[in-house]
Amino acid sequence: MRTDAFFSALWAQFIQVTPQAQRIHALLRDRGETLVNDHVAFRTFANSPVDREHLVPQLEGLGYHHHEDYDFSSKHLSASSYLHDDPSAPKVFLSELHDDRLRPDNHARVRALVEQIPANFVQGPQVFHGPLPWAPVTFADYEALADESEYAGWLSAWGLRANHFTVSVNALTSLRTVAEVNDFLHQQGFTLNAAGGLIKGTAADLLEQSSTLADQASVAFSDGPRTIPGCFYEFALRHRDSSGTLYPGFVAANANKIFESTDRRNRP
Ligand code: NI
Repeated sequence: MRTDAFFSALWAQFIQVTPQAQRIHALLRDRGETLVNDHVAFRTFANSPVDREHLVPQLEGLGYHHHEDYDFSSKHLSASSYLHDDPSAPKVFLSELHDDRLRPDNHARVRALVEQIPANFVQGPQVFHGPLPWAPVTFADYEALADESEYAGWLSAWGLRANHFTVSVNALTSLRTVAEVNDFLHQQGFTLNAAGGLIKGTAADLLEQSSTLADQASVAFSDGPRTIPGCFYEFALRHRDSSGTLYPGFVAANANKIFESTDRRNRP
């Protein structure tokens, strides 16, 4: 599968539950902007047939290589970034949850999900935009997971998919800073993730980011449909380091707050 076909399939799945992304995309296009995707992010469960170890060969097959590792111990997450051989291709941020660090009841809930996944489940990059790898959970199980780990709840309901796409602010011409992008989004009526401030990171960090709050979307739980936070859109401005290189990595402190864009408790 070619990288552009991969991202087209991810985007098609993403906008089904994230209509705000399509609206923002259209609003920026109407201003004459050409949109460049800085990165997408995926979430998964560690120690499972869909953990990083199983997924990374699929990224490598698309032309990606490992760049850096990140640790989010307060959220029981670790993550890595992957860069493409073609620097114009989107970066990939792949995190995984160490569910063995959750309460025993929630650890058991996650194990009951991953034990449903065949060992050879990952057969190609389409795993990143395929159907839920386990049977739908009950809404009560989702709530129990999300109360301890918003990430675990989200992942139990949504499975593997692009958690967010990211507009490269560097590639915009009419909006030059993250603050200008945020003002534009506010004027258009979008709600931004205010956790840790509207702008995560500074020029000194070499990466400034903001994000919308996730759209609410319907999930078919095993005991009926319910509306919960789905996916969101991010905005990233990268700065040059002292050698003149545009910073290619991620900033853990920023990402720690970006994760909260799907948190039920952050809704106004
Ligand atoms: Ni991101």
